[in-house]
Amino acid sequence: MDRPRWLGIVVAIWLLSACQGRELRMSHKTHKDFSDVYNHTLALILVEYASAVYMSDLTALFTWTCTRCTGLTEGFEVVGLIVDVQHCLQAYVGVAHDLNAIVIAFRGTQENSIRNWIEDLFWKQLDLNYPDMPDAMVHHGFYSAYHNTTLRPGIVIAVQKAREFYGDIPVMVTGHSMGGAMASFCALDLTINLGIPNVQLMTFGQPRIGNAAFASFFSKYVPNAIRLTNQNDMVPHLPPYYYYFPQKTYHHFPREVWIHNVGIGSLVYVIEQICDNSGEDPDCCRSVRGSSISDHLRYLGVDMQAETWGSCGIVFHGNEVLSSNILYQVDPAENIVISKWPIVSSAIKQSVEADDKINAS
Ligand SMILES: *[C@@H]1O[C@H](CO)[C@@H](O)[C@H](O)[C@H]1NC(C)=O
Ligand SMILES: *[C@@H]1O[C@H](CO)[C@@H](O)[C@H](O)[C@H]1NC(C)=O
Repeated sequence: MDRPRWLGIVVAIWLLSACQGRELRMSHKTHKDFSDVYNHTLALILVEYASAVYMSDLTALFTWTCTRCTGLTEGFEVVGLIVDVQHCLQAYVGVAHDLNAIVIAFRGTQENSIRNWIEDLFWKQLDLNYPDMPDAMVHHGFYSAYHNTTLRPGIVIAVQKAREFYGDIPVMVTGHSMGGAMASFCALDLTINLGIPNVQLMTFGQPRIGNAAFASFFSKYVPNAIRLTNQNDMVPHLPPYYYYFPQKTYHHFPREVWIHNVGIGSLVYVIEQICDNSGEDPDCCRSVRGSSISDHLRYLGVDMQAETWGSCGIVFHGNEVLSSNILYQVDPAENIVISKWPIVSSAIKQSVEADDKINAS
C-alpha cells in the first residue's frame, strides 16, 4: 500500500487563472484509469438535473421550460412529476434522449432554515432495520420519505411506463442533500424490488443514511454509485461517523468523489479526488472539518437550492398546459401527480399492494 498518494487522485483538474479570470482545462493521466468509476462529464450533466428539481413552477418543470431547464439538460422529456404536498417533497422522472437514459431527480429539503435542518442531522438515529438485510440499519425518516409517501408509487409507475416505451435503457438517479438520501433509497429499491439492471446513482452533498452493514449491501446491489462531496460541505459529515464504534455508527456507502481546491501561489486547482471503496476514506472530505453551509449550496458551479426557502409553494397553471396527453391528478391527500400516462391513485395503491405481495413471497 505504499503507492504514492497522487495515484489515487484526480481525473479532471481545472486550472483557474485567478489574475486573468480565464479557465483552462487540463487532464491528468494517472497510472490507474478511473474513467470506469467516475465520469466528470456525466457529473456536470446530472448536477443540472439535481438543481432543476428545486424549481417550484410545476408547469415550467413538466414542460422543461424552467429557468434551470436549459444548458446540458436541454431536450429532456419529463414523463412524471410527483409532488407530495403533505411532506413537502418533489421528484420527477423523464427521458434524456442524448444520454439514452431515464433520469430521476429528488429535491432536497425546503425547510425554513437550512441551518436548523443540518443541525438536526446530528441527532438522527439508526432506527429502522432495512427489510431483508440482516443487521442493516437505516434512518427511518429518510427511508420513509421515499418509501412511505406519494413519491415511490409515482416514480415506480413512471419508470415502468418509460421502460415499456423506450426499452431497457439505463436509469440514472440523482439528488442533492436530503434528495440524495432519497435517491439512494430509490436506486436500491429499483434494483432489488423491480429487478432493473444497470441503475446508476450520483448524489451531491448527501448525508449518511445507514450503518456499515447497510453500506456493504448497498455497494453490492448498486455498485455504480458516486457521492460527490464539495470542499467543507457539512452535510456529508452527518449524521456523525464514530470511528471508535464501528458496529454502532452511521457509515457512508462508496464511492465518494471529493471536490476541493488546492492553491499554489495565485493559481487554484479544483481537484476531483476519487476516494477509496470503503465509503469512509479518511483522506477525502473526512480530512477536513466540514463546517460550511455555503459549500453545501453550490456544486460544480451550480446553485443547489430553491429560489425561495421555506415554502412548499407550488405554482401551477394547469389549464395552460393540459393538452390531451398530459394528466393532472390529485389524490385524496391533495398530493399532485402530473404525468404523460395515467398514474391514478387507485393504480398507485394496486401497484404498492402488488409489490408487497412480491416482496412477501
Ligand atoms: C461519460 O459520460 C458522457 C455523457 O453521458 C458520455 O458521452 C461519455 O462517453 C462517458 N465517458 C466514459 C468514459 O464513459
Ligand atoms: C407510513 O406512514 C403512515 C402514516 O403516515 C404511518 O402510520 C406508518 O407507520 C408509516 N410506515 C412506515 C413503515 O414508516
